[in-house]
Amino acid sequence: MTAQRLITARPVTDVPPVIEEQLEADERIALKAEITRLMAAQDAILLAHYYTSADLQDLAVATGGCVSDSLEMARFGHAAQARTLIVAGVRFMGETAKILNPEKRVLMPELGAECSLDLSCPADDFAAFCDQHPDRTVVVYANTSAAVKARADWMVTSSIAVPVVKHLAERGEKILWAPDRYLGDYVQKTTGANMILWQGSCVVHEKFKAEGIRDLKREHPEAAVLVHPESPAEVIALADVVGSTTQLINAVRDLAQPTFIVATDNGIFHKMREAAPGKTLLEAPTGGRGATCVSCAHCPWMAMNGLRTLKRVLETGANEIHVDPGIGAQAQRSIKRMLDFAAEQKLAVRGRSGD
Ligand code: 13P
Ligand code: SF4
Repeated sequence: MTAQRLITARPVTDVPPVIEEQLEADERIALKAEITRLMAAQDAILLAHYYTSADLQDLAVATGGCVSDSLEMARFGHAAQARTLIVAGVRFMGETAKILNPEKRVLMPELGAECSLDLSCPADDFAAFCDQHPDRTVVVYANTSAAVKARADWMVTSSIAVPVVKHLAERGEKILWAPDRYLGDYVQKTTGANMILWQGSCVVHEKFKAEGIRDLKREHPEAAVLVHPESPAEVIALADVVGSTTQLINAVRDLAQPTFIVATDNGIFHKMREAAPGKTLLEAPTGGRGATCVSCAHCPWMAMNGLRTLKRVLETGANEIHVDPGIGAQAQRSIKRMLDFAAEQKLAVRGRSGD
């Protein structure tokens, strides 16, 4: 008998620094005007993630695009008439948009905008891992490459992972989950499903510290704690609400508390402030007591998107996303399975547009 190769998540050590675009007011106005003109001339719409800059989010809304989670960015683009979709986010979001809209041109301001979850899960290693567990249903998070989605039975987002896995567990299916070990652990505990987990993690969310949140909560006992499930279990354990980006924005709007401690990327504060202008938002700490800022609660790859890079892409046509048609067709099946499930269950997997 031959020994099985041990397949583990690829360590992600090469994390770039967070460098945000700095603009003077007049340059900002000029860039927005020129981008708006170029987008109209090229029949383009802008799909921006909540973690991108306020400038990009505002521009998306002003030009009839959307600001939302990764799934709604793709769905909005699919429903839109525009010939060109500009995806301001990270690479897997551009790929998902292309997979769902193969006939459209998909551009991204920055092709180097990666995601540590995606990087932790190379397609070849993942396929070998799946081959070692042929009895398991393969469920992958949206934060993966097209090739990994093509190997999966289901793709899910954070807003729908629990209901999908619960449904599969009730049918007696055992799950192979990738790539986020924290989200996988949360889903496993919530559903009781039989799951084995790829050991990837988000470099932003895994830095939130339970001790720091407890300290902040002592200073602000009136605050509700909102946590994205890519965070460690001890942070999730402190949460009043665990949810996707859209669900956390809705919690700020809907809950009675005046103050919120928010454990997710701080780009989300822009829409949270719009949704609940009078409320106080506090960033959950990412360093231990006395430590300096580590990830600063902001994704370095999301920060690569800016107005200057967006204008250049529109001027040059650079940074187009291409997905191999065979892989795209295969990956589309795992994404569509989730969309059909959501429609059947009448589950909201939507983000928020300009509201
Ligand atoms: P959502 O698709 O839920 O917005 O999350 C994407 C992401 O990268 C969270 O870190
Ligand atoms: Fe990936 Fe984390 Fe950045 Fe989201 S915040 S894109 S999960 S690295």
